[in-house]
Amino acid sequence: MSTSIFLLWLVTIPLTIHATTIKVDQPKGFLLDCGGSEKIEQDSLIYAPDDNYIKTGNKSEIKQDGLVPLLSSVRYFPDDVEEKFCYHLPVNKGRKMLIKTIYYYGGFDGGKEPPIFDQIIDGTKWNINTSADYAEGLSSYYEVVMVAHYKVLSICLAKNEHTTSDPFISAIEMLYLDDSLYNSTDFGKYALVTLARHSFGSHDTIIFPDDKFNRHWYPFLDENPVVTSHTPVTPSTFWNMPPEKVFENSVTASRGKTLVVNWPSFPLPKTYYYLALYFQENRTPSPFSWRVFDVLINGAKFFSNLNVTTSGVTVYSTTWPLEGETNITLIPEINSPVGPVVAAGELFQLLPLAGRTLTRDVAVMDDLRKSFNKKPQDWHGDPCLPKDKSWTGVTCSSGTNTRIISLNLTNAGIAGSLPPSISKLTALSHLWLGSNELTGQIPDLSSLINLETLHLENNQLQGSIPESLGHLPKLREVFLQNNHLKGSIPESLRNKNSINLKVSPGNEGISVAAPELLDRGDHCEALRTDSILVASIFANGKQSPETRKQTIGRIPETITVLALAFLISLSTEFLIVSTTSGTRTLQK
Ligand SMILES: *[C@@H]1O[C@H](CO)[C@@H](O)[C@H](O)[C@H]1NC(C)=O
Ligand SMILES: *[C@@H]1O[C@H](CO)[C@@H](O)[C@H](O)[C@H]1NC(C)=O
Ligand SMILES: *[C@@H]1O[C@H](CO)[C@@H](O)[C@H](O)[C@H]1NC(C)=O
Ligand SMILES: *[C@@H]1O[C@H](CO)[C@@H](O)[C@H](O)[C@H]1NC(C)=O
Ligand SMILES: *[C@@H]1O[C@H](CO)[C@@H](O)[C@H](O)[C@H]1NC(C)=O
Ligand SMILES: *[C@@H]1O[C@H](CO)[C@@H](O)[C@H](O)[C@H]1NC(C)=O
Repeated sequence: MSTSIFLLWLVTIPLTIHATTIKVDQPKGFLLDCGGSEKIEQDSLIYAPDDNYIKTGNKSEIKQDGLVPLLSSVRYFPDDVEEKFCYHLPVNKGRKMLIKTIYYYGGFDGGKEPPIFDQIIDGTKWNINTSADYAEGLSSYYEVVMVAHYKVLSICLAKNEHTTSDPFISAIEMLYLDDSLYNSTDFGKYALVTLARHSFGSHDTIIFPDDKFNRHWYPFLDENPVVTSHTPVTPSTFWNMPPEKVFENSVTASRGKTLVVNWPSFPLPKTYYYLALYFQENRTPSPFSWRVFDVLINGAKFFSNLNVTTSGVTVYSTTWPLEGETNITLIPEINSPVGPVVAAGELFQLLPLAGRTLTRDVAVMDDLRKSFNKKPQDWHGDPCLPKDKSWTGVTCSSGTNTRIISLNLTNAGIAGSLPPSISKLTALSHLWLGSNELTGQIPDLSSLINLETLHLENNQLQGSIPESLGHLPKLREVFLQNNHLKGSIPESLRNKNSINLKVSPGNEGISVAAPELLDRGDHCEALRTDSILVASIFANGKQSPETRKQTIGRIPETITVLALAFLISLSTEFLIVSTTSGTRTLQK
């Protein structure tokens, strides 16, 4: 399947106000007027300002006579440092959503051409190019049906190589869809991108409240005759819940004739589509009010002997290959007293999701984001996706189930503490948070079974070194120097083969517990009472005597503690070179 993202269903939102006085129940979800400053009403829907859902960006007004309020303001992103700019909407995980992003440039920045940029919804990226619409004086919108895979929906804008001015957005709609809508689609793997939704033979665009999800059904008129329905349908009997109004008109062909509708009216890129067609027998109900015909798409059989009655019927395919110009051909049954009819159609491009970051990793990163002060500016949205826009310091695996494999915020100016949930990043190989202002304890990291290197040096961490570190099978490098750690170096860690462990300088409170040395030498009595600072331990057994001497020579002379021991562990053998309290030399 081609993964090229073609887009869009470029359409207009009427630029003039449609005054309504009827108060209708608002659909569930979010209706945001980006860059707006107060609630506005348009087409019976109430849009709120977007301030509560985004922390970045600037607002701008578009001064253009007669422009609907929804398009009269934009939020734009002049920042040159950040990678992406994200809205965060709290959503019900598992629910199906219809998401619309609406763009109307309006020359808000004094320019002539709208900028080109990317839109990223939960990690899936679209290219936003509204130039053609804008040139025609139209707004553009991008619509997608997807399931909420996280508790927070992120809708981000990002600059790309074509971006020459500031990305902007006019409005966002996120409305929950009932479960039955488009439900045969595998929403774990795909999103549906709306390409066309038309009410055949209609003169008006059908929107909310006629469509309770505010799907826009555009009029589609061709040379085919139009018929009007004599009985209403019950939308709830259709899984996709088309509004009753789309059945009011249908296009038809005269008796015995084949009906051809060239729809949609633009060529399609070669890929797979979700295609649904809606039909109703328009005549007054009677025992004879039904008609039978075959449905073909570009000459290929889509449905045979479809029996259309006054209750209406839909036929759909969740994965139909299409390319180029498309036609719907309806061939009546021989001797049928009436021609075929079709009332409406919906066409979506099946968009493979860009994989997903493991939900648990996302949740942990969210914890980290909350517990770090002064975190990187771009720590918003999916930490890994899209691939070229992962969070600063975050490296992720490729493949469909994306995991975080490295977190490197060395000298990134972060403050705060490490939440215990960091131990859930079980794919992590490298955790480098050295030279920051981290406080608090080192949490239990025993689940980080893939951890190879741990750098927490040059922070203000307190407490003890977790014993469990010594049991991490792949751990080969641990840098903890220059913190305020206390207690003993866990034996598990000291005895670990081939580990490069650094706990000094700093960490004046670290001692080697005497009992651990009891069976190692004659001088255990002295050691038990002394407070011993372990400056460095080498356990790779490969250090040459020269290296040892050099390392010994590097012990800072300024360290003033009760006792100082320089301990060299060669596999199991301990060589304690000196202690300041007694300047003893202990050897085993
Ligand atoms: C955008 O807003 C920020 C913060 O309010 C302000 O410092 C900055 O000057 C604004 N940028 C522009 C281009 O107006
Ligand atoms: C954006 O769309 C315009 C008009 O269709 C087109 O001329 C231009 O090449 C597009 N730009 C990019 C970067 O795709
Ligand atoms: C879709 O929804 C309808 C109505 O709720 C239900 O009967 C049907 O089994 C669902 N189909 C799938 C594939 O989930
Ligand atoms: C419909 O599409 C098929 C396949 O592309 C083509 O052969 C046929 O001529 C088309 N029919 C009309 C009336 O355009
Ligand atoms: C079409 O459906 C109607 C109503 O259910 C029925 O009376 C009629 O026999 C059906 N026609 C065919 C050809 O199945
Ligand atoms: C982490 O970042 C530092 C500084 O940018 C760099 O020197 C180091 O090699 C990085 N570590 C890893 C494991 O990528």
